Amino acid sequence: MNYPKDDPTLVTCALPYANGKAHLGHLRTYIPGDVLARSLRKLGQETTFVCGSDMHGTPIVVNAEEQGREPEDLALEYHEYFEETFPRIDVEFDSYGHTDQPSNINRTQEIVRALEDNGHIYEDTMKVAYDPESGRTLPDRYVEGTCPYCGNEEARGDECDECGRHLEPGEIEDPVSKVSGAPAEYREQRHRFFALSEFEDYLRDFVDDLEGTSNARNQPKQWIEEGLQDWCITRDLDWGVPYPDDEDLVLYVWVDAPIEYIASTEEWAADSGEPDAWERYWRDDSSDIVHVIGGDIIQHHTVFWPALLHGAGYSAPDAVLASGLVKVNDRAFSTSKGRAVWLDDDYLDEGLDTDFIRYYIVSYTGFENDLNFSWSLFQERVNNELVDIYGNFVYRSLLLSHDNYDGLPDGSLSPEVESEIESAVERFRDAVDDLEVKEVAEAGMALAGYGNEYIQQREPWRLVDSDPGEAAEVLYDCLQIAKATALLLEPVMPSSAERVWRQLGEGDVHEADVEDATQPLSGEPREPEHLFRQVEDSEIERLESRLQERVGEGDAADESEGETEDDETGEDEAEFMSGETISFDEFQELDIRVAEILEAEEIEGADDLLKLEVDVGDEERQVVAGVKQFYSTDDLVGRRVVVLANMKPSEIFGVESQAMLLAAGDEADLLTTVGDSEPGTRIR
Ligand code: 2FM
Ligand code: ZN
Repeated sequence: MNYPKDDPTLVTCALPYANGKAHLGHLRTYIPGDVLARSLRKLGQETTFVCGSDMHGTPIVVNAEEQGREPEDLALEYHEYFEETFPRIDVEFDSYGHTDQPSNINRTQEIVRALEDNGHIYEDTMKVAYDPESGRTLPDRYVEGTCPYCGNEEARGDECDECGRHLEPGEIEDPVSKVSGAPAEYREQRHRFFALSEFEDYLRDFVDDLEGTSNARNQPKQWIEEGLQDWCITRDLDWGVPYPDDEDLVLYVWVDAPIEYIASTEEWAADSGEPDAWERYWRDDSSDIVHVIGGDIIQHHTVFWPALLHGAGYSAPDAVLASGLVKVNDRAFSTSKGRAVWLDDDYLDEGLDTDFIRYYIVSYTGFENDLNFSWSLFQERVNNELVDIYGNFVYRSLLLSHDNYDGLPDGSLSPEVESEIESAVERFRDAVDDLEVKEVAEAGMALAGYGNEYIQQREPWRLVDSDPGEAAEVLYDCLQIAKATALLLEPVMPSSAERVWRQLGEGDVHEADVEDATQPLSGEPREPEHLFRQVEDSEIERLESRLQERVGEGDAADESEGETEDDETGEDEAEFMSGETISFDEFQELDIRVAEILEAEEIEGADDLLKLEVDVGDEERQVVAGVKQFYSTDDLVGRRVVVLANMKPSEIFGVESQAMLLAAGDEADLLTTVGDSEPGTRIR
């Protein structure tokens, strides 16, 4: 992508089911989505950011039934909850609707009629799971069984969490009713089908042109090559969008849910006084549509959805960004197993800064990789990076300026600093063009790191007496770096960016463009307050023990349901056996080698990390390793260790790491070999 463009861009986030409270799994999509929308605006790109609550389907009906409530009542309650909650973490949609609103019902029925008129829908019979004990049909999540594609025995009626495939009604093997627990039977029923198989050629081209994460671009290719089945788009349920002119059936939730992306755009257009403005996105191919979703719903967004849109005469998405998994303490995130972090109870009610979790999520890893959350890592990243570098630099710059110059020091922007800011802006631009939100965070944080080093090296606190003119120049540069840093980090951390700009006496950071980064300071800096507070050990201990308690309760519940008990190493055997094994070929893809440490040095400001130079046989590599607390640099030089040599290079604390040092346990017990294998010897 090459922003800004003449035509506008629409960013959407996958709709949360309106049946439970917000947790880390949700934040994994909504925060990066919000960061992307804000980043586009920073480049002057006209952007609309929409979402809404997913009110229909069995996820809602099953929950409502369990609670003895009406689906509508439950869904509306959680819709209102989500609507109020997103702004609390600075996720600011231009429109947040829901799928049971008239605009969505009307748009859905209009699209289905258009598909009928264009000959893409037909009627046929199909096998539907039926519970002989309760005497009811069992759509989607009312039935569980074995996935015909990957053998997962806990697949849900319409999707398999293990292989990410959508399952058609009748496909699941050994179906069991969720209502009575009895084996289900299959019965014939009349339904409507969307002729998806006719769209194979269209979808092949669509996927070839699709931008976004590689998982979203590659997975559909395989599904299309395997051949597409027609798609049953009706369900025998009372809750949903009625099928046009057939009151006995409702549409499958995956028809009306993505259509809310359109309906929500229509709501935004109506509210902005330009009711036709939604058509610029959905009826005109020159604008961009970017969907930000979880990695489990790629098929819905890259196969069913573009085919529906194309078949009904609407524009299809241009990019799909699909996230990796969320883990907590290195194990699968799971609300039912208690391995979860809840936004309200565990975060907002604890008074933790919204920017902390936004930063953690966006900067932890690339969007499509798995994200691991642990409270201790959270504390480490916040305290070492946000508090010690960004916060400290801004505070010192402002305090020295305030105390010694009573506001803006009399200086001008030095060419060195100006060029550093310009490179950071360039890096930011490239990151947005690549739709890489992690890189957006890094562009800003690298500038903060530069500022921190700059102030440390120039020591303006010494110069104020000996050379006040030079001190003013240095501090002017520092304030300009602070301004630019906050501006570039606004998409990731809007609330602290606002505080920095307020303290600098600058205008509205949310409205500012990246071009403002080098614009001369215009305000009167004020007496500063610390930008962030430290996250204390006591808070982390409390939050971690609460998590452990919940996991313990989850495990106890699993045991009573006959699930495998965790073993002593903490590995959940059931999870391991069901999907986390790897083949020998996959193991062979890991380039694990003997290496020798040639040099070891500390990294300024990093409490846990050392920078190592290692010989991996054919070359030398730089490795950043979290071993400082356990080894001195002298202990390490000359040691033979084991490294993962084909680890994707990453930047840790501003230093590139080109391999990963392997170590056991919490105290980084380094792996080595018993014999004298030379550096470069492969481990097999
Ligand atoms: O998987 C889910 O959580 C769905 N509620 C996402 C719907 S996204 C969209 F297409 F509507
Ligand atoms: Zn499967």
